[in-house]
Order: sequence, then C-alpha cells, then structure tokens
Amino acid sequence: MLPVTLASLRKLQNEGTPITMMTAYDYPTALLTHSSGIDMTLVGDSLSQVALGHYNTNQITLNEMIHHCKAVARGAKTPFIVSDMPFGSFEASVQQGVESAVRLVKEGYVDGVKIEGGKEIIPLVKRLTEIGIPVMPHLGLQPQRATSLSGYMVQARSSAGAKELYETAMALQQAGAFALLLEAIPHKVASYITKQLDVLTIGIGAGPGTSGQVLVASDVLGVFPTEEEAAAAAEAAAEHGQGQQPLQGVKVAKFVRRFGNVGSESRRAVREYIDAVRSGGFPEIGKETYMMGKEEWEEFE
Ligand code: KIV
Ligand code: NA
Repeated sequence: MLPVTLASLRKLQNEGTPITMMTAYDYPTALLTHSSGIDMTLVGDSLSQVALGHYNTNQITLNEMIHHCKAVARGAKTPFIVSDMPFGSFEASVQQGVESAVRLVKEGYVDGVKIEGGKEIIPLVKRLTEIGIPVMPHLGLQPQRATSLSGYMVQARSSAGAKELYETAMALQQAGAFALLLEAIPHKVASYITKQLDVLTIGIGAGPGTSGQVLVASDVLGVFPTEEEAAAAAEAAAEHGQGQQPLQGVKVAKFVRRFGNVGSESRRAVREYIDAVRSGGFPEIGKETYMMGKEEWEEFE
C-alpha cells in the first residue's frame, strides 16, 4: 500500500468514506495501525497516561513525545502520522510553537501536528501552514485544560457555545488547518460544522457525522480493566483466594467503544506462564530446551 497523503485523505473525504484514525505510542502499536490499514496514526499525548502512567496529559514533555514519535514512525509506514504538540510546547509564542513543531517533524519523523486550542492558536496555525507543516487544531473538549475545566466534560452544548465553536472552526480553516479534531461535543454540532467546512473533521465523542473517527488504541483494544471488571475480579479473588494483586480499574468515557479485551487475554497469558513455571511444566525438555551430543556431554561431565 502507498503511504497515505493529504491528497489521498481528501479523496476519501470526497468519496464519503469515513477516515479511520487511531493512536499509537510505540513500535508495536504503530505496526498495528499500519498492518490493519488505519488511515491516520495519532501520537496522542494521551500516551502520557496510557503508556507512561502519568496522571494527565500535561506531564509529558516535548522530548518524551519526540522519543515516542520516532518509534511510531518506524512502525506506521503507510498511515499519515500526526503528533500532538504537548502542553508547554507552543503557548509562549508563535516562535516557540514553530520550533517545537519543526522538532516533531525533523526528529520525530511525523507528517503533521495537532494543537489543542481555539482562536488563540490562529497565528501559529497560519505560520506552520506557511512553512509547510500540516496542522490539525483540536477543538471541543481539550484535555490539556482539564484542570481549568474542572474535569473532562462535554463542550458546546449551549447555543452560544456551539456558535463560538462553529466560528472558531471556520477561522482555523481560514488560517490553513488541513483538518479539525472535534472532541466531546453534541453530534448535531459536529455534523453541522463538518457540512460547513471544506477541510476534514475527525471526531471523538462527536457522533457519526464527521469525516472520520479517532480512538485511543488502548480503548479500542481494551488494554486496561474497566472499574466494573476490576470490581468483579476483586470479588472473584475474595472467593477463590487467587493471591493476585487487585486490578486498577479505569473510567471509560461514554464515547468509547472497546472492540476487544486484550487486557484480560494478557493477564491470562501471564498467569499461565507463572503457573507453568511454578508447577515445573515450563520449560519442557525436548521442546523448549537445547540438546547436546552424548559424547560432548560425557566428555564435559
Ligand atoms: O491524545 C490523544 O489521544 C487525543 C485523542 C483522544 C484525540 O488527543
Ligand atoms: Na491529545
């Protein structure tokens, strides 16, 4: 397959084929997006939580993002790769934003950048577009502002909020954005904005009316136990006394659909490995061991 380009994304949009985007944060997840035929790979700063175990996205640094982008670029050969600009890498000035974006492209090998913000990022979007870096502004719920918003809440629910979002979207398109990411907004607002815009919209928690969808890889795969799964596991452990650590459940957003349960499969595999070692069933002589000639052995012994 040929690498996905802005032109091939535009073609999908014109044909009315929904564009698929999923996050990746390392070589295995990048290979997954590549081999499955995902159109766009996002090195989202959500990797701060799902790959590094931080409390929120604001704790990841630009250098750390670049480190992960490099690994993703080695695996995601066909998808169009977009990196988040992490908190603190663009807010101070247009110059700071340009320097950070250039590093993500030059050192992280990504194709474009995603920036959380509204009208205040217009000068940066303009400048990056002028110098040839594709930009995807991220509107609606912006996790980098979770503290000032007092949490992760649906946005643009009021008519005034929807109007402001619409105007911001138009202004960012005017500034040169190649696509907009819309997170956690009413589906009617996302559909309306998508119809009014020429550029792509990629939605998460924005309904089916956008040009495409994005989800976090660990959500698609079901890597982390849900709070319900963790509670059920705790109950089972209390009954059967399995001697395992309690699972740490995660809150799953309303807009997430889990298409697998890789987490429970992973835990099953590791438990079986532990049991096999403890019971002497692994490794098995003749199967998972190396042989030595009889003579060589006798000589050695
Ligand atoms: O960081 C991320 O994964 C994102 C997506 C949720 C859009 O920004
Ligand atoms: Na993000």
